[in-house]
Amino acid sequence: MILGIGTDLCNIERIQGTLDRFGERFVNRVFTETERRKAERRRDTAGTYAKRWAAKEACSKALGTGLRMGIAWRDMAVSNLRTGQPVMHVTGWAADRLGQMTPDGHEAIIHVTLTDDHPWAQAFVVIEARPRGSA
Ligand SMILES: CC(C)(COP(=O)(O)OP(=O)(O)OC[C@H]1O[C@@H](n2cnc3c(N)ncnc32)[C@H](O)[C@@H]1OP(=O)(O)O)[C@@H](O)C(=O)NCCC(=O)NCCS
Repeated sequence: MILGIGTDLCNIERIQGTLDRFGERFVNRVFTETERRKAERRRDTAGTYAKRWAAKEACSKALGTGLRMGIAWRDMAVSNLRTGQPVMHVTGWAADRLGQMTPDGHEAIIHVTLTDDHPWAQAFVVIEARPRGSA
């Protein structure tokens, strides 16, 4: 069953502006080391951050919390499989929230997909609950 969906569209130029203005302070507050490593070694650093920003916003919507002041952004993080497919990991408050919304006897799976076409970056997140022990 589907527990939640979320989407977000993020302007890459706005992220570039924030990077120019706040640099490390912004990056360290919002992104994990894995996300930073991926973005910093790419030519399109702002686009890579913008996709991950969109993923965090989309995930917070799928979790039903939306965006709150003081939210721990690094508790929703994107990594990539060897194929390039993105994977969302939740920790801290986001993992707690996921646990609360998951029915007994089920496990939650977070699906995420990202795309960008300058100046836009977009993410969709779907949270699925599967009965434990099913494929
Ligand atoms: C997946 C693919 C269609 C992405 O298309 P694109 O137009 O270049 O890029 P988009 O802006 O639409 O999407 C990029 C995002 O797609 C996602 N993505 C990449 N590979 C993916 C895959 N195998 N499955 C699902 N999502 C994937 C990533 O999240 C990526 O953003 P990120 O790298 O910042 O995390 C394209 O890269 C592809 O066909 N890959 C197949 C494998 C491949 O050719 N690998 C090249 C190295 S051999």
